[in-house]
Amino acid sequence: RQGTLTEKLGDICRFLKKTVPGYDWVGFYLVDLTKERELILGPFDGEPTEHVRIPFGRGICGQAAESEKVLIVEDVSKNINYLSCGIKVKSEIVLPIWKEKKIVAELDIDSHTASAFDANDQAFLEQVCDIVSRII
Ligand code: SME
Repeated sequence: RQGTLTEKLGDICRFLKKTVPGYDWVGFYLVDLTKERELILGPFDGEPTEHVRIPFGRGICGQAAESEKVLIVEDVSKNINYLSCGIKVKSEIVLPIWKEKKIVAELDIDSHTASAFDANDQAFLEQVCDIVSRII
């Protein structure tokens, strides 16, 4: 598809949110290349969030960035290092995106349903992240 990277990432967010039941907020965080070790909110679909910049280590997103691991949180209310994006959110998945072995972005999805994400979601979303890694 033609278009800027921002448009493409926005399309992916809208597609996932519209297509998959339980994906209630879908967005990308981009690693700040100038300041490093900080995430900046990129394209997303869903309610606006106050968490526009997230230092590595903070929240689920910051923990995923630091550990470079996929994080699935079944019940966000039980996670002490969590940055709330709305009272309706119950579960979350965050996947790192690498480019030449360096983490460059993350895909973050929130659900209003508890335990909405399982190994199937992870496998599917890892494929999405692989595609994103090629266009980013
Ligand atoms: N819940 C995330 C913050 C980002 S919002 O979900 C969009 C976290 O704890 O890192």
